[in-house]
Amino acid sequence: MKSMTTTLSHRRNSSDGQLRPGHRAGPLLPEREFMLFSTFITEYCGIKVPPSKKTMIEARLAKRLRALKLTSFSEYADYLFSPTGMERETPLMINVVTTNKTDFFREPAHFEYLAKCALPRLAELQLRRQRATIHAWSAGCSSGEEAYTLAMVLNEFTEKHCKADFSILATDVCTTVLQKGKTGIYEKEKIASINPNLKHKYFMKGKNNASELCRIVPELRAKVQFRHLNFMAEEFCISKPMEIIFCRNVLIYFERATQEYLINRFCDHLVPGGYIFLGHAETLNGMAVPLKQVSSAIYRINR
Ligand SMILES: C[S@@+](CC[C@H](N)C(=O)[O-])C[C@H]1O[C@@H](n2cnc3c(N)ncnc32)[C@H](O)[C@@H]1O
Repeated sequence: MKSMTTTLSHRRNSSDGQLRPGHRAGPLLPEREFMLFSTFITEYCGIKVPPSKKTMIEARLAKRLRALKLTSFSEYADYLFSPTGMERETPLMINVVTTNKTDFFREPAHFEYLAKCALPRLAELQLRRQRATIHAWSAGCSSGEEAYTLAMVLNEFTEKHCKADFSILATDVCTTVLQKGKTGIYEKEKIASINPNLKHKYFMKGKNNASELCRIVPELRAKVQFRHLNFMAEEFCISKPMEIIFCRNVLIYFERATQEYLINRFCDHLVPGGYIFLGHAETLNGMAVPLKQVSSAIYRINR
C-alpha cells in the first residue's frame, strides 16, 4: 500500500473551509480537499469516490471534524496527511467512509444453494481429501450478520449430514463493525425474519424481558473469528485455504480493474473445487479469472 504523506503534502495549502451559506450546518468540502480525500480513500482501500459522492463524503467526514473539534476540511487534511494523522486518523476516517449495510440471510438464494448444492459436494471432497474442517471466509463481513448466517447454515448441515467441523473467518477494513460483530449482539428487529427454529436455537434473549437486544449463542460465536483485513494490503496473512468465500456487496464499490485483481487474489485462497459467492449486482463478465459460474452470482474455481 502506498503512503500518501509525501505525495499529498505539497497540496495541503487549501483555502479554509467557508461556513456553509443558508440553512445547512457544517463547513463546505472544497473541491481540492475532496480530490485529496477521494484519491487517498481509493489508494488506501480501493473504494472509488466519484464526484457524485461528494455530498456523502462531506457529510461522513463532517463527523470526524466534529470529533476532532476542527472547523474546516483543510485543517482536517493537514491533520490526516501528517505522520501522526496517517497513523491515528486513517482507520477512523475509513470507519466513517465505508458503507456497512448488511443483514442476516441477505440474498437468501445463496444460502439455499450453499446448503443444497455446494455443501454436499464439498463434504464429499472433504471426505476424499481427508480434511476434517470446512473453512469459510466472509470477506467484507461488516457487523457479522453474513458470517453468523454462514455459521448457522454450516452448523445445520454438518449436524445432519456429515462429521466435518467448520470454521469461519470474518474480515473487514472497518473496525467499528468488527467490534459489533465480535460481541454478537443484535437488535431484535434485525432477526425478525429469521426462521423461528433457527432463532430459537442460535439466539439468546436479553436477561430483561423488555430488552430489545439478543445475542448469538456462545457455541456459534466460537466458530467465527473476526479480523481486520484491508483487501488492498500486500498480504492477506491467511494460512488455511478456503472451501467457501463470500465477498458480497463489496466489489461494487471498486473500479473494475481492482475487482479483477481481487477476485484473482481470492482464487489463490480457494481449495480446488471451492466456491466464491458475490453480490447479485456484481458480475465477472469479461474478466480473466479461473472461475466457472454455477448459479446467479455463484462461481466455482476451475483448477
Ligand atoms: C455493504 S457491506 C457488505 C456486507 C456483507 N458482505 C453483505 O453483503 O451483507 C461492505 C463491507 O465491505 C467493507 N470493505 C470495503 N472496502 C474494504 C476493503 N478494502 N477491505 C476490506 N473490507 C472492505 C466495508 O467496510 C463494509 O463493511
